[in-house]
Amino acid sequence: MHIHRSEKAWLIVGVISLVFFLGIIGWAAISEGITPPSHIQTIDPTKVAVTPPFDHPGVRKVGDHAVEAYIVARTFSFTPSTITVPVGTIVTFYATSPDVVHGFFIADTAVNMMVIPGWVSSASHRFTKPGTYLLMCNEYCGVGHHYMSGTIEVK
Ligand code: CUA
Repeated sequence: MHIHRSEKAWLIVGVISLVFFLGIIGWAAISEGITPPSHIQTIDPTKVAVTPPFDHPGVRKVGDHAVEAYIVARTFSFTPSTITVPVGTIVTFYATSPDVVHGFFIADTAVNMMVIPGWVSSASHRFTKPGTYLLMCNEYCGVGHHYMSGTIEVK
């Protein structure tokens, strides 16, 4: 079979790009610890209101430079709707839903998770600048979806 020279050249470029980008993904995952948001923990969605720590959602200090934020996403609000976290601290967000699938997206950050009933989604972020960040639901969850938002105060 005869393959034209230019076609061969493009095949080589394609294979090199593929290997290069797969290599970057492997390097990011293994040496930089970059992973997608986790959905490792499970929770009974009918018992979110009585399951610690989601029975008292909010922010907890877990170290000198680390806090955890537990947030319940339900139609059509986040509880608590406003949370305050310290600037420069690693914040690990844990979110779950007692009803339907919601989104958990913090504007101007890489925090973007699906919140699925029965699962606890988590992602970490360090806010380097103080300010007010918008938390929004970016999964269509019903007629009030566009009202579903919250606020992250970084001080
Ligand atoms: Cu919750 Cu859209």
